[in-house]
Amino acid sequence: MPDVTGAPQNRTYWNETASVPSFPALAGDIEVDVAIIGGGIVGVTTARLLKDMGQRVAVIEARRVGQQVTGKSTAKMTSQHGIIYQTLEQKFGEDRARLYGEAQERGVRRISELAVQWGIKADIEPMPAYTYTNDESYVSQIEKEVEVAQRLGLPARLEHGDIGLPYNVLAAIRFDSQAQFHPVRYVAGLAATIPGEGSHVFEGSRAIEWEPTRVVTDHGTVTARHVVMATHLPLGQVGMYYAMAYPQAEPVLAAPIRRVPPGMYKNAEKPGHSIRTHRHENGQVYAIAAGTTFKPGHPDEEQDYIQELERWLTKNFEAGPIEYRWINEDYTPMDSAPFIGWSSKSDGYLVATGFDAWGISNGTVAAMIIADLATGRENRWLDIFDATRVKPIAGAKEFVVENAEVAAHLVSGYLSRKPKSYDELEPGHAAIMKVDGENVAAFKDEGGVVHAVSAVCTHMGCLVGWNATDRTWDCPCHGSRFELSGEVIHGPATQPLGSKVTG
Ligand SMILES: Cc1cc2nc3c(=O)[nH]c(=O)nc-3n(C[C@H](O)[C@H](O)[C@H](O)COP(=O)(O)OP(=O)(O)OC[C@H]3O[C@@H](n4cnc5c(N)ncnc54)[C@H](O)[C@@H]3O)c2cc1C
Ligand code: FES
Repeated sequence: MPDVTGAPQNRTYWNETASVPSFPALAGDIEVDVAIIGGGIVGVTTARLLKDMGQRVAVIEARRVGQQVTGKSTAKMTSQHGIIYQTLEQKFGEDRARLYGEAQERGVRRISELAVQWGIKADIEPMPAYTYTNDESYVSQIEKEVEVAQRLGLPARLEHGDIGLPYNVLAAIRFDSQAQFHPVRYVAGLAATIPGEGSHVFEGSRAIEWEPTRVVTDHGTVTARHVVMATHLPLGQVGMYYAMAYPQAEPVLAAPIRRVPPGMYKNAEKPGHSIRTHRHENGQVYAIAAGTTFKPGHPDEEQDYIQELERWLTKNFEAGPIEYRWINEDYTPMDSAPFIGWSSKSDGYLVATGFDAWGISNGTVAAMIIADLATGRENRWLDIFDATRVKPIAGAKEFVVENAEVAAHLVSGYLSRKPKSYDELEPGHAAIMKVDGENVAAFKDEGGVVHAVSAVCTHMGCLVGWNATDRTWDCPCHGSRFELSGEVIHGPATQPLGSKVTG
């Protein structure tokens, strides 16, 4: 895919340890039963399940399957989502909170079943999942979470002290019978089972226009009975989910470690620390660790949190050298449950978003629900996930305005300390600057070449911010991400940032 500057944003541990098939771009116009925009875990699993139901499907992927948010995650397969069940019970009631847990457990098992059924070597490894605390003020929440999770029928128990980490903890929730896997090998392996009998997987094919029964890409048009938006956040204005779920970025590191913990871990408090392991083909065990969340395009926090995570990993796990660093994003839904199903009772897109960094199990659940809905079946999990449950109109404008203000604030603070012309920009540095009265996002590479694009996000006009780790421009408002060339990496934007002449 286009990466004209050698930017490191596709250099992740998972992408580099998977040898995956490639798929052709769409060429011309075709017709299928269900068109699926997006080839992450949601899109590819939906396609597989629909094909099993006798449907002809087309996965339309703008870049490479499995390598975007799914391929940048820590890839824990678990129903243990931090402190969530007490929140869900409070917001949705006990029965719906139970449905959430049941769905996640089923989603985790479905991944294993599909891997076995299709012979996918996805490195699935059974592993307990822990959320722990060393902060007195979280202990009662941990205790309550165990009590609620047990009542909901989940495999939870309370632990203290030694949970296999290099340090003792005050309290921990342990879920048994969970697992971890290789997300790129899994999604790409599953995608390889789809082409044939009237079904397709297309890479390098970006959806640029859509209707409930038609997707126009930069390489042709797909007509279908239904369109699934499996693009992490629905594109453009569909369902206005950007007004009901906000983006959070997180640093992720991968490094060989010599103290190997026997589980998957995450703490409840900040700074955030999440860790799992993976045995590399070179024989070494690597940690894949994630840190504290921050607003995308906020370079100061990004650098602070990535350094803090490096210190934590190195000190506690005899880790090093840090071989991979990247930033990933997910959307936090405003009422704690993802939005899955029809985007509205009238416009007829099938959507899945708001996974709050738990979209491996939730994404598989989403695929199961969407496959049912697209084939006219009912799905009782909709009782908690129903994507029409909140009317987006009320409050949406305020949400957008508020975010736009935050973005403007962030960028203007950033501007005041940064160069004001291309000449003042040091090699290896980036800045938002005014050029001929326009906001320009500029990066000067180590060879002195300036890469300049419009700093105005093509989704709804917020100013993008710099991501120094991946060398991308990320939008704080709704999480769109762009390469240095302006090419879209992540929606809801679908149009590139306009390029600028640099003299
Ligand atoms: C730091 C971090 C760690 C995480 N760790 C875990 C974890 O351990 N366990 C867990 O359960 N979850 C985890 N998650 C969450 C999980 O990774 C995501 O929720 C999930 O992968 C989202 O899957 P998806 O299919 O919706 O998105 P994606 O994988 O991003 O797939 C969407 C696809 O749509 C494509 N696309 C976008 N726009 C277009 C367009 N216009 N045309 C065509 N294609 C398009 C994209 O290129 C992309 O490939 C983590 C998240 C973060 C941020
Ligand atoms: S992602 Fe919505 S304005 Fe940038």
